[in-house]
Amino acid sequence: MKSQNWIKSPEDIEGAVLTFRKDFEIKSSIKKATLHASCLGIYKATLNGERLGGQVLTPGLTCYGDRIQFNSYDVTKILCEKNTLEISVGPGWAVGHYGPRGKYHPWGNSVEAVAELELESADGSVSYITTDCTWQVYTNEVIHSDIYFGETVDKTADIKCLGNAIPAKSFPLVPQIGADIVENEILSPIELIVTPKGEKVIDFGQNITGYVSLNIKGNSKDRVVLSFGEVLDKDGNFYNENYRKAAEPVIYVLSGEEDSFKPTYTFQGFRYVRLDEYPFDTVDLDGFRAIVVHSKMERTGYFTCGNDRINQLYSNIIWGQKGNYLDIPTDCPQRNERLGWTGDAQVFCRTAAINFDVRQFFKKWLGDLRAEQRSNGAVLGVCPENYNDAYCTRISAGWGDAATIIPWTLYEIYNDKSFLAENFEMMKKWVEYVRGVGDEEYLWLTGYHYGDWLAMDAGEDSYVGATSVDLVATAFYAYSTELVVKAGHVLGQDMSEYEELYKNIVKRFREYFMENGMPKEKLPYTEIITKGNTAIVDKERRGITQTAISLILHFNLCLPEERETLAEKLCELIYNFDGRMSTGFLGTPYILHALSECGKHDVAYNLFFQNKNPSWLYSVDHGATTIWEHWNGIKEDGSFWSVNMNSFNHYAYGCVAEWMYGTVCGVQILDAGYKRIRLAPVPDKRLGFAKCAIETISGRIESYWNYENDCITYEFTVPDGVVADIALPNGFCQTVTQGKHTFCLHLLNENTNDFCL
Ligand code: BGC
Repeated sequence: MKSQNWIKSPEDIEGAVLTFRKDFEIKSSIKKATLHASCLGIYKATLNGERLGGQVLTPGLTCYGDRIQFNSYDVTKILCEKNTLEISVGPGWAVGHYGPRGKYHPWGNSVEAVAELELESADGSVSYITTDCTWQVYTNEVIHSDIYFGETVDKTADIKCLGNAIPAKSFPLVPQIGADIVENEILSPIELIVTPKGEKVIDFGQNITGYVSLNIKGNSKDRVVLSFGEVLDKDGNFYNENYRKAAEPVIYVLSGEEDSFKPTYTFQGFRYVRLDEYPFDTVDLDGFRAIVVHSKMERTGYFTCGNDRINQLYSNIIWGQKGNYLDIPTDCPQRNERLGWTGDAQVFCRTAAINFDVRQFFKKWLGDLRAEQRSNGAVLGVCPENYNDAYCTRISAGWGDAATIIPWTLYEIYNDKSFLAENFEMMKKWVEYVRGVGDEEYLWLTGYHYGDWLAMDAGEDSYVGATSVDLVATAFYAYSTELVVKAGHVLGQDMSEYEELYKNIVKRFREYFMENGMPKEKLPYTEIITKGNTAIVDKERRGITQTAISLILHFNLCLPEERETLAEKLCELIYNFDGRMSTGFLGTPYILHALSECGKHDVAYNLFFQNKNPSWLYSVDHGATTIWEHWNGIKEDGSFWSVNMNSFNHYAYGCVAEWMYGTVCGVQILDAGYKRIRLAPVPDKRLGFAKCAIETISGRIESYWNYENDCITYEFTVPDGVVADIALPNGFCQTVTQGKHTFCLHLLNENTNDFCL
């Protein structure tokens, strides 16, 4: 894009969409016409009334102060002699309300547009039509739009010219990097419910992210007003208090003719839609559709088994990803948050990258993470961030570590070194940041942390679990340093300094947090928790918790000879907690791995099948169609967790899918990009059978096992060029290459689960 003239309206209209319009004539014959366009806000571009491109919510969300993407459209075929080019811009993330307290105008006070139409004539000469003060600004039928506060489309609105555009502040522009944001699926309503309160509620059967479209013919000025909710309350009534301030409706004002409506500059997270206003007594369900919107990602991972509830859990994980991979990895898509929480992103990243091809999606977001890394190496809780909110700008273990964990994970899955090369400086700087905070070079004992967020071992109303935050922070410090070392080796760098650092962190970790091969039970309480998120624990934090031991085992912070006792202790803690998990955001991703890596598959499976709160199946048994933020978002008695933090579409705990692919079906990466793999499934009778297929960059890998009478049949498909080490539970090992490989094990003893080939 050659010239970058940003324009805005001579008059601001709070919260409204404005249309920047240029009429022009083409006199010579044009060989190729390309429009480059962008905005501050969210825009829709039309040429001669035709909407351009297949994308929605352009130009997406980036750290706008550093870069805004522009999109390019081939418009050669739409161009005629007399043309009208329109760029309609809504407030979107940049100008409307966005941020944890719904900050207004986070990146700018008014919407802006920028465009350039590049015209290549038949004779090879090139001319340009660019945004400038000859463009006119009009009001729009979208009289109000906001990411959090819905949209009002008024087909009867009086469209006025506000005058000529005026110059506006420039923002750095870059060509589109991220995956297209598109309308991916369309769902029909499954039912119209009349609730006990007498309200009319449409059930789409699935919690999604996107919007509701409506085809309708009514009288001019008739209104349809839609409110959105994820769940019904225990009496079956509509509920959306958990949206906090983002519970504002979408309003459609009818023209009197056949109308088609859908929001253009915002989206909602919902399963249920309440008809607050509707012009007829009988609801025509056929006019309503739910349109699923997310970044374009090709599906690559598939899992199915003989247990319907586990299949539902898996479906919830997939929908959690669809709902929260809308241009950036968000925590949730419904309440006044929808932020790029770095912790959530790293927790779910491996699962996400097996489920879908997320390379392009993360290329862009990692660029934002790099751009927003502070000069001292700090990586914040949220990215993109421009609200200077104390809550989002915390520098926390498990959140900032997104800087190391995500690039490494993407490299491992896709064997794409550019994820390491582009992010290596960020990874190192993050570790250097941790190294430099506080007085202890090899421990991380200072700062605000989110801790083992939402863990269940510090009391019902606590946001932070009981595990020592210092222990968690230092464990992640070790892990990130280890990943920096590994990344450096892949990039051919001398990593001796970081190898030394890693050894020292592990040494100090063991001295400070452990004794006799076990974490110390009581640890000093050094972190400060901000008001409102106070954990109900004594002035000390515990070392012997499920999360602490899972981290120690999975991050390898113990000696090999200590593993068995630690694993026993972990099992004991689970047993003493009534066979349940007490882990939060930072322990949950690792607990099943920690158990399985120590051969405690039975305990891992018991947790996996657990349905008492907290557990994965608890939400499934309570009707979930996506993953919940709280294990018990809906409590046993049908009441809800606190209104201020209770999302029913929060993908983080969906990270269990990586254990389903990697342990249940046993597909494990030995060499990046699945060039060499281990196929070591762990069958369990309660599943009946399990099957996964992964479209890797090395080809399609399949793993299947099935219990039948006294036999287990295994079937593996290994693609050309991949070497697979098969390891079956009875100790049988074989290295194989391309082809289908089938094995049958016969049960020798029902009680011991011993098999022979
Ligand atoms: C978000 C989380 C996030 C957390 C930080 C919440 O408001 O929804 O998912 O990671 O804050 O602890």
